[in-house]
Amino acid sequence: MNTSMNTTLAEKAATPTFSIAMEERKVAAASSAKAIAEKLDFWYGTNQALKNINLRIAENHVTALIGPSGCGKSTFLRCFNRMHDLQADTKYSGSIMLHPENINLVAKEVDPIEVRMRIGMVFQKPNPFPKTVFENVAYGLRLRGFSGRTELAERVEKALRAAAIWDEVKDRMNESALALSGGQMQRVCIARALATEPEILLFDEPTSALDPIATAKIEELITELRQRVTVLIVTHNMQQAARVSDFTAFMYLGELVEVDATAKIFTNPSKKATEDYITGRYG
Ligand SMILES: Nc1ncnc2c1ncn2[C@@H]1O[C@H](COP(=O)(O)OP(=O)(O)OP(=O)(O)O)[C@@H](O)[C@H]1O
Ligand SMILES: [Mg+2]
Repeated sequence: MNTSMNTTLAEKAATPTFSIAMEERKVAAASSAKAIAEKLDFWYGTNQALKNINLRIAENHVTALIGPSGCGKSTFLRCFNRMHDLQADTKYSGSIMLHPENINLVAKEVDPIEVRMRIGMVFQKPNPFPKTVFENVAYGLRLRGFSGRTELAERVEKALRAAAIWDEVKDRMNESALALSGGQMQRVCIARALATEPEILLFDEPTSALDPIATAKIEELITELRQRVTVLIVTHNMQQAARVSDFTAFMYLGELVEVDATAKIFTNPSKKATEDYITGRYG
């Protein structure tokens, strides 16, 4: 009568238990790529800031970029939403293919405005517009042509909830976003980036200007976000990289030295340069 249940239990009992690390690696290997950088080079004038970067960004996972100051982390991040196009005399070569469509994000014929609609960015210093909380979050939606009051209000609320700031600002929607605390401003900026439902969110040291409590809130938020969006985060804080990311990429002098599952990078990196950096022996 209970044969099938008994078999299941027996099978379970007989199944060898994998270590968590192995399970993590299996999940990582199975995840599909959201973007792939291939032979990516980048120049500011004659200064080559990125050299032959090859990196696969796993969909709905968090990838951390670490490395010493000036190694090209921000430069790499800014390629994804074509921020460099705003500066004269900059040049990309190679590709960052966005999946599933296989669009080369850094190709000349691809419109940077379109790219920025799909790939949002959150900066080191919270940078809300000098507008109300509501208008900050509604900004990208208006650019996209949303104008109905109810729909805008619904989408703004959804983004603020997703950024874990709704309860703190729901009665302050018409106040200037500049009147909020730094940690609140940063979460409003995250809501602003989330409102247009981007596929990739770029974070450039998003907590370096925040206190430990605000930092913990943002880290928790990033952990939740990965269920629906692919995250790329630059951080100087090794504990933060270890806490929030699934994969970690170590950069040095414009090159990608090593990328692997975060647990592997922090316990058993393959390259000596990576080990020296994460153990604080660098420089
Ligand atoms: N806007 C710019 N114009 C010209 N050169 C730049 C610009 N931004 C960065 N660089 C140069 O590119 C190289 C990489 O800088 P980048 O800002 O990407 O480093 P980073 O790894 O983000 O450093 P940090 O950890 O200090 O933020 C450096 O040599 C830097 O001087
Ligand atoms: Mg930087």
